[in-house]
Amino acid sequence: MLTERNYSIKRLNTFGVDASADRYVRFDREQEVAQFLRDEMLGETLHLVLGGGSNLLFVDDFPGTLLHPIFKGISIVEESDEHVWVRAMAGEIWDDLVAFAVARGWGGIENLSLIPGNVGASVVQNIGAYGVEAESVIERVEAIHLASGEQAVFSGKECDFGYRTSRFKKEGHDQYLITTVVFRLSRQPRFVLDYPGVRDAVAALGDICLANVRQAIIGLRKSKLPDPAVMGNAGSFFKNPVVEKGVLEKLIARFPDMPRYPQADGRFKLAAGWLIDKCGWKGSRLGRVAVHDRQALVIVNLGGAAGRDILAFSERIRGSVEEAYGISLEPEVRVIA
Ligand code: FAD
Ligand code: EPU
Repeated sequence: MLTERNYSIKRLNTFGVDASADRYVRFDREQEVAQFLRDEMLGETLHLVLGGGSNLLFVDDFPGTLLHPIFKGISIVEESDEHVWVRAMAGEIWDDLVAFAVARGWGGIENLSLIPGNVGASVVQNIGAYGVEAESVIERVEAIHLASGEQAVFSGKECDFGYRTSRFKKEGHDQYLITTVVFRLSRQPRFVLDYPGVRDAVAALGDICLANVRQAIIGLRKSKLPDPAVMGNAGSFFKNPVVEKGVLEKLIARFPDMPRYPQADGRFKLAAGWLIDKCGWKGSRLGRVAVHDRQALVIVNLGGAAGRDILAFSERIRGSVEEAYGISLEPEVRVIA
């Protein structure tokens, strides 16, 4: 365990925002979390659980305690003819887990290749990409309740997953520190190739197999999304808005080519990237902040931008989409103000 005061978090957030935390506590081993909570109940004190920092925007210095679980480990907990249950610790790099599964021929998370961040956070916003969401494979989540120090176990159903959400967001962040996640992977993968571009990208590599799906997804992602190691960003800044049928019909009457995706509940998901693009923001720049020139949903730090500059820019984008389409975009990135 490492505890530091006034700790720089510039390298711990993929926006590369130069901020600091009042206190930083790093847990190298799982047991250290319980030990820490025995000595100090967090109660009402301001705290935040940090993973890979790839979905966070620090607007200012963080005046509380950052709790950073970095413990790693992947093990097999159960096997059947059809499934393998794999337990991964919170600090494991998400994409290392995907590579581990693909190398063993276990399906379920290959479409989620190359999503940055750690295993713990994959649960928090139910990460999703190319037609798959983490909820489809999450069997069980083990966590520690930070106010009481008690252990908690949630089934996948109890996580109350939705599009980019779960109980860990709905009930308020930072009540629990997720320690491990058990994933149910398939020995006979069922390939999900219907997201635009995926089937063709796989075909260009050869057979439909886990390795080729992973490779195809990595290729698609690299063609659109900036690498945070090169250019600071946190992926999609906003969520795709989901609207009622009536709202969609009015919009389609005015903008017939607007992309829309029917949802199971009868509503429609719109493409925030398209809306922002049509408002003319793609590639535009204000000071050290810009809209990525290949994906309008991604805001980038050109180097040296402050968190508040990024937030101010995002608000201008949000305002212009609201004015043009009457749609209020919600940030996907968690803004720590
Ligand atoms: P952080 O950013 O550190 O934290 C995110 C949230 O989870 C915070 O609220 C934090 O408090 C909480 N948290 C983190 N760890 C724990 C824990 N152990 N216990 C409790 N709470 C915790 N997301 C997608 O869904 N799909 C994509 O395709 C995608 N593409 C991306 C592409 C790029 C280039 C980037 C930079 C980001 C992308 N993201 C995507 C967003 C991001 O990668 C995911 O949200 C990821 O799961 C965040 O993981 P993290 O470890 O970095 O979490
Ligand atoms: N589009 C544009 N201009 C743009 C960007 C997109 O017109 O600049 C259009 C595309 O042509 C397409 C539609 O918008 O018709 C959707 O675009 P894309 O397939 O690139 O996906 P997205 O909706 O922009 C979502 C996720 C990504 C995820 C991809 C692939 C959200 C908020 N974003 O992006 O997740 O990787 O689909 O599944 O749901 C993230 O969450 O950080 C993230 C990157």
